[in-house]
Amino acid sequence: MATAEQIKSLIRSHVDEDRDRFLTIALQVAAHEARKGHSAIANDIKGLVDKAKSSSPKVIPFNRDFNDLVLGSTPHTRLADIILENSKTERIKRVILEYHKQDQLKKHGLANRRKILLAGPPGTGKTMTSSVLAGELKLPLYTILMDKLVTKFMGETSAKLRQIFDIISSQRGVYLFDEFDAIGAERGRENDVGEMRRVLNSFLQLIEHDSSDSLIVAATNNANVLDQALFRRFDDVLYYSLPTKDEAYHLINNRLANFKPTRMGKGPITDAAKEISHAEIVQACDDSIKDAILSDKNKVSIKVLKNMLRDRRSAYGNSKF
Ligand SMILES: Nc1ncnc2c1ncn2[C@@H]1O[C@H](COP(=O)(O)OP(=O)(O)OP(=O)(O)O)[C@@H](O)[C@H]1O
Ligand SMILES: [Mg+2]
Repeated sequence: MATAEQIKSLIRSHVDEDRDRFLTIALQVAAHEARKGHSAIANDIKGLVDKAKSSSPKVIPFNRDFNDLVLGSTPHTRLADIILENSKTERIKRVILEYHKQDQLKKHGLANRRKILLAGPPGTGKTMTSSVLAGELKLPLYTILMDKLVTKFMGETSAKLRQIFDIISSQRGVYLFDEFDAIGAERGRENDVGEMRRVLNSFLQLIEHDSSDSLIVAATNNANVLDQALFRRFDDVLYYSLPTKDEAYHLINNRLANFKPTRMGKGPITDAAKEISHAEIVQACDDSIKDAILSDKNKVSIKVLKNMLRDRRSAYGNSKF
């Protein structure tokens, strides 16, 4: 039988909706039973924990008002899937580590970094980073489509934002405010409407006062237009950019996997991938794999891949051909 302390801890972690802590304590109970020679019950508990760990985190639907504006998912994306410069990967790792060690930090009056701003060109991994955080932390990901929220609720956007922040504190998860510039644009810009200033002011207050256990991520293509007051509300600001040659080569290798041609020189292939985003490179790789499959080949043709990359470049408006 578990000790009274263990039962209390189990109840506490259940009330706090802290799934990881709950499962850790359950394993302690299993170890306690095993020490007492109750190996059957210990194995049963371990089996239940393993089953719980392999299942996806629960996505609790938002109320119907938020249909189409908040998308819930349970990503399985891992840090190893994303290709970024080392310093950025390290900063993402730090967010993950601080989340895991939040109790230790709290004992010293410190909070884990959990409000993060991601800025950079399309297709460079901002949304993917949110999926990595959710995947690594085994949390559900809720994406709030800011541009739609603003257009749908013009006049009551602030009230809706408040409701979203209420949910953030009651449902642990990673909350991605996508297209964040829809509300984050500088107060006092020429095209400023009074309503938008109010929305931004509410957001600033809400994010400042938020002390939930959730992670709040805001993503924008356009950090230049963001209000200066926003930056200090975030614990971390990560700037994304188009891949370097090394990153592009790494990405192509990863994506082609078994379809990778036996000899693929770095120079020519990365030249063809110049000035396009990670997302465009992934698309060109997938198109080349499709071509190989449809031509009954088990390797991608380098010529086809280069053409696909060039096609993406021209679609991107970078064509020099
Ligand atoms: N850094 C990266 N490493 C590996 N794959 C990437 C990376 N960035 C993008 N991709 C690929 O491109 C897809 C789209 O990227 P993502 O949605 O993260 O872009 P984004 O930066 O959010 O773009 P947008 O500003 O248009 O929303 C990803 O699902 C992934 O397949
Ligand atoms: Mg995105």
